[in-house]
Amino acid sequence: MRLVLLGPPGAGKGTQAGRLADRLTIPHISTGDILREHVERGSRLGVRARAYMDRGEYVPDDLVVRMVMDRLDEPDAQKGFILDGFPRTVLQAQALEDALAGAGRPLEAVLKFTIDADMAIKRLSNRWLCPCCKRTYNAEFMRPREDQLCDDDGCGLTRRSDDDEITVRRRLEVYRDETEPLELFYWERGLLREVNAQARLELVTERTMEALSDIAS
Ligand code: AP5
Repeated sequence: MRLVLLGPPGAGKGTQAGRLADRLTIPHISTGDILREHVERGSRLGVRARAYMDRGEYVPDDLVVRMVMDRLDEPDAQKGFILDGFPRTVLQAQALEDALAGAGRPLEAVLKFTIDADMAIKRLSNRWLCPCCKRTYNAEFMRPREDQLCDDDGCGLTRRSDDDEITVRRRLEVYRDETEPLELFYWERGLLREVNAQARLELVTERTMEALSDIAS
């Protein structure tokens, strides 16, 4: 399956993409995760991207598009993929559409996760992240078994530098201005499906599978 997840920061895209990837056995491709790896490594892309990410703004389209196209060429993405955090602008969506049409493997669905701004801020200000396996936790909604330690590998949990309230508010604004127009782009193509993501984790997964029931095998 070739799938895009849309939704504001904190909607649960990363969390649900991980669960879906396990069920559908296709890779979860998160542009945020790939960019953060570049920042950690101090690559040229990472150095350029960091300033934008710290301000809660988008990394320039040309950098991100090239990065995603390279990732989609990898062997594991040939049987399908879940794109989380890409595309975020109409230019990115157009570039993706052109590339996939050229390869004869167009998108099959775009899921839009909806959540209100207050809940997004609440989720993100309580988010904890495992730096080793990237699993996310939440101090209010999804605690690890042992305080501050990842259930899977025991690594100490950390916070994301763009999860402070001021940056989260900026990220929500940027999403509204730059990414919400994609809803019309995909609706016009008959690909958009909406999932109410303001519910407990398992219920959102159920709603997601239901939204894909006609195409998920
Ligand atoms: P990115 O990492 O993609 O951040 P984002 O889109 O802002 O989304 P988040 O990761 O914050 O939220 P999420 O929806 O994945 O929620 P999660 O599942 O973690 O991008 C970061 C930055 O990179 C961007 O700002 C930009 O600078 C740059 N970038 C990335 N892609 C780009 C692109 N294409 N173009 C340009 N720039 C780009 O969940 C959040 C919290 O809630 C967690 O604690 C989780 O445990 C909890 N939670 C999840 N679901 C539930 C639930 N159902 N109930 C209760 N808690 C829940």
